[in-house]
Amino acid sequence: MDVTAPRTPLALLPTPLLHASRLERALGAGPIFVKRDDLTGFGLAGNKARTLEFLIGAAVAEAADIVVAAGSSSSNFCAAAAMAARVAGLDCDLLVPGEEPSTPSVNVELARAAGARLLFGEVETRELLDDAVVEHANDLRERGRRPYAVPRGGATVTGILGYVLAAQELAEQCRETGVTPATIVVATGSGGTQAGLVVGTAGLGLPWRLVGASVSRPAPGLADQILRLARAGAATLGLAEPSADDVDLRDCRGAGFGVASAEDRVSSRLALEHEGLLLDDYYGAKAMTLLRTLLTEDARTPAVFWHTGGVPAALSALVGRAS
Ligand SMILES: Cc1ncc(COP(=O)(O)O)c(C=O)c1O
Repeated sequence: MDVTAPRTPLALLPTPLLHASRLERALGAGPIFVKRDDLTGFGLAGNKARTLEFLIGAAVAEAADIVVAAGSSSSNFCAAAAMAARVAGLDCDLLVPGEEPSTPSVNVELARAAGARLLFGEVETRELLDDAVVEHANDLRERGRRPYAVPRGGATVTGILGYVLAAQELAEQCRETGVTPATIVVATGSGGTQAGLVVGTAGLGLPWRLVGASVSRPAPGLADQILRLARAGAATLGLAEPSADDVDLRDCRGAGFGVASAEDRVSSRLALEHEGLLLDDYYGAKAMTLLRTLLTEDARTPAVFWHTGGVPAALSALVGRAS
């Protein structure tokens, strides 16, 4: 599969695929593998390093001089976008809803330290951010700048290309190690990561079921968006069109985005104590809880837990800071 879109290298690839034998013993199920996209090696960007390679590549190819992105104050994507923009010599404006918190999150501080301009309070809620990004980019254009606008999470046809290739990367690692996964579990926020994996999985005819843990948005609406995005991506790449059955998304929001349930806390503890994996309350813990549920429901194994990162919030939670 050839992806010829412009790309700015950021991630150290391939990320490792590790056998989680101690977690298997603790859960009494397996085999379990972990795809370590917490180790993409660019800032603390986790999965967003793959996404940003193509978004920043497109911005550079379009001769943009500023990236406009948006997210909540805990957003890993915003911090990663700020760093990625700077390494390509671009400025970065970030729209963050609501007022600036009195204790800034690690991600806000990372973004600011990387030289981004943080614009708090231009919109009230996360849902309004994507329109606000377009408006802000238009304002910048009127003032003579060349903005590249990115919706939340980088969930665009360009942004998902990194995860189309990641599906292929995992398939190659599995071939080399003689593993045939039956289930892949990944945390889903904006849906870009899952959409890319859906394109790669369907396009390459890979045999696994891919299950997303929706951590912030109602699953039915988001599944439709993921399917639309995946179909657009597949069409661009000339790959087989994914069907609705290819998008398996479970509602894992629980008490809310970033609010860990008792089970989520068990998930984080098991991952840390048995495998040295840091899981955050926004994404990783909820996805691990979904994996544990699937293993008890129908144990379609081997299973791969796609660790997408979230280190800033995981560390913040450990030391009792805002995230
Ligand atoms: C650590 C982590 N995991 C998973 C996701 C979900 O990725 P996506 O927004 O592409 O669904 C994000 C999104 O920001 C993230 O930061």
